[in-house]
Order: sequence, then structure tokens, then C-alpha cells
Amino acid sequence: MTGAMLCMVLFAVFSGASLGMILPLFDNVFSRTDTATEKCDFLPSLRQNTGEAFSNLGSEIISLHPRGVYSAGGELLEGLRDTFKESDPQQVLIVIVLGLIFIVLLKNFLGFMQVFFLSRAEQGVVASIRGSLYNHLLQLDMGFYTSVRSGDVMAKFTSDVGNMNWAMTEMMMSVPRQFVLLLVYLGLALWASWRLALITLLVFPPAMLFILILSRRLRKKTHYSQEKLSDFSALLQETIFGIRIVKAFSMEKFEGSRFAGILDVHRRTETSLQRERAFASPVTEIMGAIASGFIMWYGGSAVLSGGSLSTGRFLVFLAASLSMMKPIKIISTANSRIQTGIASAERVFDLMDLEPVIKQPVDPVPFDSFADRIEFRDVCFSYETGIPVLTDVSFSLDKGEIIALVGPSGGGKSTIADLIPRFYDPDSGSVLIDGSDLRAIDLEGLRRNLGVVTQETVLFNDTVRNNIAYGEESIPIEKIKLAAEVANALQFVEDLPDGFSTVIGERGARLSGGQRQRLAIARAVLKDPDILIFDEATSALDTHSERQVQKAIDGLIEGRTSLIIAHRLSTITKATRVLYIENGRIVESGTHTELLKLNGKYRLLYDMQFSGQ
Ligand SMILES: Nc1ncnc2c1ncn2[C@@H]1O[C@H](COP(=O)(O)OP(=O)(O)O)[C@@H](O)[C@H]1O
Ligand SMILES: [Mg+2]
Repeated sequence: MTGAMLCMVLFAVFSGASLGMILPLFDNVFSRTDTATEKCDFLPSLRQNTGEAFSNLGSEIISLHPRGVYSAGGELLEGLRDTFKESDPQQVLIVIVLGLIFIVLLKNFLGFMQVFFLSRAEQGVVASIRGSLYNHLLQLDMGFYTSVRSGDVMAKFTSDVGNMNWAMTEMMMSVPRQFVLLLVYLGLALWASWRLALITLLVFPPAMLFILILSRRLRKKTHYSQEKLSDFSALLQETIFGIRIVKAFSMEKFEGSRFAGILDVHRRTETSLQRERAFASPVTEIMGAIASGFIMWYGGSAVLSGGSLSTGRFLVFLAASLSMMKPIKIISTANSRIQTGIASAERVFDLMDLEPVIKQPVDPVPFDSFADRIEFRDVCFSYETGIPVLTDVSFSLDKGEIIALVGPSGGGKSTIADLIPRFYDPDSGSVLIDGSDLRAIDLEGLRRNLGVVTQETVLFNDTVRNNIAYGEESIPIEKIKLAAEVANALQFVEDLPDGFSTVIGERGARLSGGQRQRLAIARAVLKDPDILIFDEATSALDTHSERQVQKAIDGLIEGRTSLIIAHRLSTITKATRVLYIENGRIVESGTHTELLKLNGKYRLLYDMQFSGQ
């Protein structure tokens, strides 16, 4: 940043200097072409006069005193003119031309160096925002993910951070450069004729007010527009994931018109945004042009009347004040982009400021392995306040036990299962493991000891091997094969075109449901957890795959502690205890035979569902 700032200030100074060359050009060359014919060597005196002024200028730049820069710059120009006074215009012309080329070269090199230094800072900031946003997302809990739309999060990552990037370029590169340029030109103009310069300055307050009002409007609209953009990335994503259903229901037209509706709102907001953005720079330029017109008239009259203003000075002033328009124009355009960036930054930081509810405790009780029992003690839970999902749930799961949860759907079985990995915390009551409340123990240690297999398997677009190993790349292939064998997956994996190196497509799209499930089980086998949770792991499968997956599950639960949400009789009969869950309560509990004898709800369920199996 320091390097860039230095380059920027020097860039601006040299831009001013290239304009300042007009003064000797007019006052020494053109105004004297008829009289000056004598040739004398002006170079020594040039060196002396300008050298002094340059060193002044140098020290003033270092102290960064704008008035100093301006007076030193003025001295420099006067010095140049005095040096040239007695010289051959032809020679002076050559010196001016060469000087100009040199200054422009230097100026452009400095301009490039500013971008060179700043781009690193800028890209670093963008990468660090995306990085910390991602890490923050990883920390947020399940509650956030069940309510958020992934398209919205994605829009924040891509287009909002992109807008911030854009605004940052403007804020760090363009605006400061133009601002310093503006100061230099203003200094030059003040030096050339302070009277005329003050008249020019009158244009500023109304222009600023105009820009300020416009900024507000722009920011609000951008906010809205970004939300619409999120809407359509969300819908796009839903459609891609749900394309099977869309096609099966012949809903292409319906989805098409839904999308068109969102597009339409977005298009309209963006159109008016673009128009308003385009409004800023012409308005400021027109205001500038009116001021310039007045100045040309007023200044021109002063020159014509032969007063204090020389043609050279007037032209320097004119060039400086006309050059001021460009920075003003650029700054007002930049401003609208900065407003867009700020609106996006607000959206990004809204997400960044979300605090996860489930956090690692401050002073966690270490949890290395499961020793004794998991206990639910009077657990009450609700997703939304006022709608209880679990009421006074109490039971314990001892080491080595297999507990099956059964009951009507919506009863709260999955919710009970989600409390064990601490995806949610109970509203009242507590879940204890080996005597400690889950909220007090080491979250990572707890989850490391849990294996979870759910109805929807999560696979990544990677090889079979990496999907089983998930993150542990050093695991030897033999161990992976063994896990696949326990999970009853070895056969089909070896039949795949590239075996364990086959890439299985996004979310495992190239595999059947049963195959996906067996890979998920192999993953759990390899993790070798003490406690297993199955949430209807086989219910999405046909009878044949179900039988194969069931075999895999049987291999996995041997010698471990399991909580199984089940709808198959064979699993239930294997369970040491069955809990019948309805409306968030444990209604009946006991072994399969005990519950049958009870002749209650479980018996009813059994007669309806299982008796045929
Ligand atoms: N993320 C959620 N937000 C709000 N309500 C939910 C959420 N998940 C589940 N529910 C509700 O909680 C109740 C229990 O759901 P669940 O535990 O999935 O039942 P089961 O697994 O027995 O079918 C249901 O009424 C369901 O609508
Ligand atoms: Mg469920």
C-alpha cells in the first residue's frame, strides 16, 4: 500500500507537470517567435533555476503539504519561464517536447507501478474475505442450514464478493489517484489565477450534493437487486437438483415462467440501476462545462484587456481546470460502484456476523472414547418456539446396546438422533454421555466417535476411494478395500470401470441408491466409531438393494452401540430395546416381544406393517 501511495502521488505530480509545460510553450515559444532570434545557451541557467525548484518540490512532496506542492510547483514553472526568457524559441521548443515525453513516460510508469503494488493488496483482501466467509459457514450449525437457501449463500460468495472487489479497486486505485490529481490540478489552477479558480470551485458544492443523494438511492436499489439475483441462483439450483421431478411432472413450463418472473424483477431493477448510474457522470460534466464556459469568457476577457493574466497562465489555468473534470467524472462513476460494493458488503457481513449457536465449549471435557452410556434426561426440544417437537424424552443407551426407534413419520425420531451429534441443543433437559452434558464436552472428540448413516447419503464428486476415506488420504488401499468388504460394497466397486479410482459424479449421481448407501456405510466402517446412528438408512431402497445394505449394516453394528431408526422387522427384532415414538414422546418401550404382548400402539404398527415380512 505504501509503495502504491508513493507511486500515486508522484503520478499525480507528473500529470500536473505535463500540463505545466504549456506555460513556457506559450509565454516563451509562441509569443516570441517574431522577436527572438539571438541564440544563447540557456542550459546552465535552466539547470540552476529548475534544479532549485525541483529540490523544493521534492521536499514539499515528502512533507505532503498540498499548499507547499502548489507553491513549489509554481516556482518551478516560473523558474522555467525565466530560464527560457532569453533563449531561442526553437531550442526551447525542443527542450519542452523532450521534457514532455520524459514526463509522460515517467508518469505512465508510476501509474503502472501503483496498480502493480495495489493489485496484490486488493486480491489478498478478496481472497481473505472468501476464505473467512467459507470458514465461517463451516462453523454455522444445522439450524442455519435448514433455513438458508444455498443459492443465496452462493450469490454472496460470487457476485457480492465480486462487487466488493470492484468497489475496492475503485476505492484503493482509482479514487485516491483521481483525488490527488484533482488536488494537483487545483493547485495549478490556483497558482495560474486564484480568482478564476475560486469561481470554478463554486460548482463543487451542488455537484457533491447531487452525488450524495444519488449514492443513497443506488445503495438501496443494489441491495434489492442482489436479493433478486440470489432468488434466481436459488431457483436454478433447485431446478438442477430436482430436474427428475420437474420432468416427471411435466413442469418445465411452470418452472420456466417462475424463473422468468424472477428474471423480470431483476431485469427491471438492474435497468433502472444502470440508468441512474449513467446519470451521475453527464450531470457532473455538464455542471463543469457551464463553469468552464463562464471561466473562458471571464478569463479570456482578462487576457484580452491586457491585464495581469498572461496568455500562458490563462492557458495553464484552462488546461488545469478542464483536466479537473476528468477526475471528478471518474470519482462520481467510481462512487456508484462503491455504493454497489457497500450494499454487497452489507449482505456479506450479515452472514459473517451470524453467530453459531452450537459452539465448542470454552473449557471442554475431553472425549476420547465412549465408555458407558448415553442418557436423555427430560429432553424437550422445538425447532420453532411454540411448536414442541420433543416432550420429556428420557431413555438411556448403554454401551453395546442396539436401540430401535419406531413410530409414525413426523413423530420426532430423526430429531432425537440429531441431538446425539449435537446438531441441536435441547431447550430443556439434557443429553449426557458418560455422565457429562454434551454441551460441556469436546465437540470434535464427540463427533469423531460417532458414525451417522442417513437416508440421503452425502457423496462428493470424487473417486470411490476418496469418498470412503473422506479427508484421510494416507489410508492404505487395503484398509479401504476391507471397509468396502464389510459394507458389502467390494463387489460392485471392483466392477466399476476404474475400480476404486472411478469418479462417481456429483452427489454420486452415477451410482444406484443402494450402491451409494453401501459406500456411506463403508465410510462409517473405516471411521470405526464407537456409536452408530442409522436414520432410515434403507428406506429409500428397493427390496434387493435393501437386503444388501442390511447385510452391510449388520456387519457394521457388530460390537458397537447403535441407535437405529428402522422400518424393517429384522432390524427391530435384533434390537435390545424398541422405543415407540409418537408426537415427540416415548409412548411404549421394551423388547420386541414385550411390546407385542402389550397389545398397544406397537402391536398395531406391527400388524399393519411388519406381519407380512
Ligand atoms: N428443520 C426443521 N425445522 C422445523 N421443523 C422441523 C425441522 N425438522 C423437522 N421438523 C418437524 O419436527 C417434527 C419431527 O420431525 P422428525 O424428527 O424428522 O420426525 P421423524 O423422523 O419421526 O419422521 C415434524 O413435525 C417436522 O415437521
Ligand atoms: Mg425422520
